[in-house]
Amino acid sequence: MRRVLLATTAMLLLFPLFHIPSTHLVAEEPQAEEAPIVRSKMKKAYKPFLELQTFFVEHEEITSSEEQEELERIVDSLEKKFHGVIDAPKSKYRDIPGFTSTLQSLNSLFRDIKGGLKWGNESWAYWRLRALASHCITCHTSYAPKMQFYDPEYSAENLTPFRRGEFFLATRQFSRAEKAFLESAGSPESSADVLTSLRRWLLLSVRIQRTPKEAGKTLDAFYRQHEKNLNQYEKEVILGWKESLRAWEGEHEEDSLAEAERLLNVGLRSSDLLYDEQDDIRVLRATALLHRLSESKTQTEQDRRRTLYLLGLSYSKLPHFFINELPDIYLEQCIREYPNTKEAKRSYRLLKEMTTLGFTGSGGTRIPDYINLKLRELHNLAYGIPDFDARV
Ligand code: HEC
Repeated sequence: MRRVLLATTAMLLLFPLFHIPSTHLVAEEPQAEEAPIVRSKMKKAYKPFLELQTFFVEHEEITSSEEQEELERIVDSLEKKFHGVIDAPKSKYRDIPGFTSTLQSLNSLFRDIKGGLKWGNESWAYWRLRALASHCITCHTSYAPKMQFYDPEYSAENLTPFRRGEFFLATRQFSRAEKAFLESAGSPESSADVLTSLRRWLLLSVRIQRTPKEAGKTLDAFYRQHEKNLNQYEKEVILGWKESLRAWEGEHEEDSLAEAERLLNVGLRSSDLLYDEQDDIRVLRATALLHRLSESKTQTEQDRRRTLYLLGLSYSKLPHFFINELPDIYLEQCIREYPNTKEAKRSYRLLKEMTTLGFTGSGGTRIPDYINLKLRELHNLAYGIPDFDARV
């Protein structure tokens, strides 16, 4: 926030020095308002989100009717605040791929929680409630600037270290989140396992801080301190991360699509057939780069459709880090924005494969009708087949 404030102040100070025609001023005005709109709406979501945290203290479910009413009130209030973000007039984030879809996914989450409470399925409501912070985190580690928000009054002491980390990351209090996740990874009684906690920390280090040297040092220190409590699998994963961070230190990363593709090629291909772990750090770096590229107004159409497909592909390989809906969001957007292209077809094939896998169990594959209908629509778009049903 500080950097933007400084920039605005600087602009105000310089302003009288230039002679700007008044028509120009009018045209520029909405632009100048853009960032603060999303930020101020988000800030309003902070209070209800803070109130929500009481539901994560010593709770495994929602029992009393008072609690249910309270939860419904808070979710209602959050939902209203986020409507404000969706409806915000032309914000600079609006055209950035995935932004609006993530907000829509957040909206359906609010509806799920309220629906669960209304129809007496409290455990479903509570389960969905726990996915809320992941939505905030997915967005804040994708689009927003590096700046931090800080609430000096709230220390979240009564939450478990992992929940505390989730709260801080969801509200962009990055350095506090970092400490909490490391604490969670190092405490055996934590509510999340070592790797889950460390992945959150990694997300911050790779996508926001982007400081491989410091991250490597921190991970080294963590490893040395906790080695005796780690199992073989955890050790292997952490050593893999350390190696990838070290390689990153020596690399010069260009801001280009070719660079993102290079990172993905190396990151997704297993170099050792017996050791099938992909290099999550390289894949995460590629996503950060793809997001940066997709925010550029000068990106060509061809690059943009490739970027959308690659984001969908990358997120399909990172299920431990973000909300489940993320790959679908980018693949669907690629198909809808660029029908009948090579990238749309690839997106469709991946989407179809993921959906089939998702609905396959020991009894075979059973995809619900409404999903099949949507898949057919996307198939026809991707392959340029006229939609006859729609014309009747
Ligand atoms: C669709 C993306 C998106 C989602 C989802 C999202 N945010 Fe944000 N949030 C942003 C962006 C972008 C900013 C930074 C705005 C700016 O400074 O331009 C931000 C900033 C914030 C800030 C900092 C405000 C400040 O004054 O610096 C808070 C607090 C916040 N969000 C809370 C939340 C919470 C809580 C959730 C989840 C319930 C959430 N956000 C979900 C995109 C999102």
